[in-house]
Amino acid sequence: MRRQLIAGNWKMHGSHQANAELLAGILAARPFACDLAVCVPYPYLSETAVALAGSDLRWGAQDCSAHEQGAYTGEVAVAMLAEFGCRYAIVGHSERRLYHAESDQLVADKAKAALAHGITPIVCVGETLAQRDAGQTDAVVKRQLSAVIHALGHCAGEMVVAYEPVWAIGTGKVATPQQAQAVHAVLRAQLRAAAANADSMKILYGGSMKPDNAATLLAQPDIDGGLIGGASLKAADFVAICRAAS
Ligand code: PGA
Repeated sequence: MRRQLIAGNWKMHGSHQANAELLAGILAARPFACDLAVCVPYPYLSETAVALAGSDLRWGAQDCSAHEQGAYTGEVAVAMLAEFGCRYAIVGHSERRLYHAESDQLVADKAKAALAHGITPIVCVGETLAQRDAGQTDAVVKRQLSAVIHALGHCAGEMVVAYEPVWAIGTGKVATPQQAQAVHAVLRAQLRAAAANADSMKILYGGSMKPDNAATLLAQPDIDGGLIGGASLKAADFVAICRAAS
């Protein structure tokens, strides 16, 4: 039995006060039967690290640089994140692929950089609505994951994968549990060919997961948690999803 992971992706939301209230609300509702993380905007990483010190609520970044250090204005190195206890970095989120033209190769390089510093990459894959309608879903997610598997080599088993259909992100149009499970099974099969521990790797679902649909999604055999956007910004909603997880 895989222990599930519920990870909040705050995206570009938050303030000192809102973050403090949100974190306090989550901390007060523990314990949960799943692993927990919040992926926060860079400026708030430090205060989040302080607020969560000594707790089992982990924290992560929403991106990282593929470069070790150097003249890359505006980028944040993995070594910097690692220095103050960052556990996860989301890489390849569809918003970065879309708005920042991130390629499969760049996403793979970021995942590799994260692992090199002991940070678990949460590697996002997912198809657009046009790709789904054209019957390309499996091919798209396999191509995206394959770049990362190739870059990580024998460390591929250390990543977390997140299946996030682009058409379900922030739209309220959630994938049905059957649609999500079908893609998760494809991804699991691909991981089995690449990593000896594929059956214990986590594949999260992301895309309009909410308190009212979390339980059925999380009950699917290959769904091992959630990457939660909008519903991670309200403590009550995030807590309800954590309670639906095992
Ligand atoms: P959503 O976002 O839950 O708001 O759809 C999920 C994500 O983009 O990670």
